[in-house]
Formats: sequence, structure tokens, C-alpha cells
Amino acid sequence: ATGTEPPPAGTGVRGAGRAAIRARHLRTDRWWLAPALTAAGLLAFVVYSSWRAFANAGYYAAPYVSPFYSPCLAENCVPMKGGPNWEVFGSWWGLSPALLILVFPLGFRLTCYYYRKAYYRGFWASPPACAVAEPHRRYTGETRFPLILQNAHRYFFYAALPVAAILTYDTVLAFRDEHYAWGHMGLGTVVLLVNAVLIWAYTLSCHSCRHIVGGRLRHFSRHPVRYRLWSWAGRLNARHMQLAWASLFSVGLADLYVYLVATGVFDDPRFF
Ligand code: FES
Repeated sequence: ATGTEPPPAGTGVRGAGRAAIRARHLRTDRWWLAPALTAAGLLAFVVYSSWRAFANAGYYAAPYVSPFYSPCLAENCVPMKGGPNWEVFGSWWGLSPALLILVFPLGFRLTCYYYRKAYYRGFWASPPACAVAEPHRRYTGETRFPLILQNAHRYFFYAALPVAAILTYDTVLAFRDEHYAWGHMGLGTVVLLVNAVLIWAYTLSCHSCRHIVGGRLRHFSRHPVRYRLWSWAGRLNARHMQLAWASLFSVGLADLYVYLVATGVFDDPRFF
């Protein structure tokens, strides 16, 4: 789109009662840059994570496990000593074990309020940007199938909590060395630690989290603990977009780091 075509007559900004402006928008800045960068960033992550999720290899380099493959729920996982390796799915499961896990963080991010804005703008141009009319003829918002399923976000938030807890557990286990003796710290430990912190920060900055801890109250004064939690969630929530990107980057980087060590591209630098 060049940004100059008028939207279809009779709908949206061309509807009755709206100002009769022929131009599609009046913005003179590079409004397309943010959605274009967003789409490129998300696409890069989708390509990378799909490759890694289906690879079914290079996800464990003792004592580090990739966040894409933890917890391992299938019998075909590589054994991870002391790690979250729970064989809920037997030998009949022949696909990558990552697929059993990633559905939860994927659902959490797909239904996230921020990511919804990001991909509606970046991929569907709905709308492309503030004050730029969308090219679609009809607009039903999130009132119908399939977008009405976005309402499940709160349940994905509940599912994201154990995921964050398990990544924290993996980080604790990363303080062992390759012979599983405690007291180790390598660059991989730091990578997993930073990732776990960012995943928690993103998860707890969720709009649903903020509502769960502080919503539907008439008097904060009667609920001082919930008020305190709500204030903390609110402070994180103000940074939700930044945390969404930072944690997306860190989770990809943590997986890449484990992959490079597991495939022998380099040795994990050790601090002690
Ligand atoms: Fe983004 Fe809940 S709103 S994770």
C-alpha cells in the first residue's frame, strides 16, 4: 500500500457521520516503520523457534537445558540428570518433545494484549497505525470466532506460571557442573538466569495478572496486600511491551546458547 488509497466507501472512517476526508490518512511521518519492524522481528522469531522446536536435537548440554524443551514430557527426551524430565508421554510420541511444551508459552504470547496489537498492526494492517484507516471492508473486532478465543488469555496466564517456575528450577540446576556437582557458574548459568528473570518480569507484567491480583475490589484500603501486589504488577505492566520483546529475545538467545554448546561450536566459559 502506498498509503494514499482511500478506504472503501461507507465503512470505517468513510462511514456516515465521519469527516469527509478523501486521503487515507493525514500522517506525514514514517508511520509504517514501527509495524514493519514489528512484523520483521516477530517473523524472525517464528522462523527460528519453529526450526528449533522441530529439530529435536541440541537442547541439552549438561547442566544446561534449552527453555524450548523444558520440562521434557516425553520418553524420547535425552536424559537430563536431576532435571525436569517427566515421561508423561510414552514411546508412542515420536515428534519433538518441544511441541508438547511450546503450546503454552505460544498461547500465552499469541493472546497477549501487547502481541495482539503488534501482529494486528504488523501482519493484518488492522489498523496499520494510529490514525491510519485499515484497508479491510468489515470490522468485527474480537467478537467472533476465531478471535473471540483471545479471551482465553487469563487461562494461558495461569499456564505460564508453572512454565516460569520450571525455567527457574532449570536455572538453579545450572549452578552444577557437567558432573552434576554444585558450585558451578558458567556463562550458560548467567544466560539462563537472565532469561528466567525476564520471563518472570514479562509474565507478572501481564494485564490479566494485574486484574487477578487487584481487580474487582471496591476498597483497596480493605485489601492492603492485594493493593501492594497490584501496585507492583502495575509498575511492571507499564513496561509490558519492552518486557515482551526482551523476554522473547532472551528465550531465543538461551536456546541458541544451549544449542551452540551442545553441538560443540564452543565451550561454555566457566567463572567458578
Ligand atoms: Fe501480555 Fe498478558 S497481556 S502477557
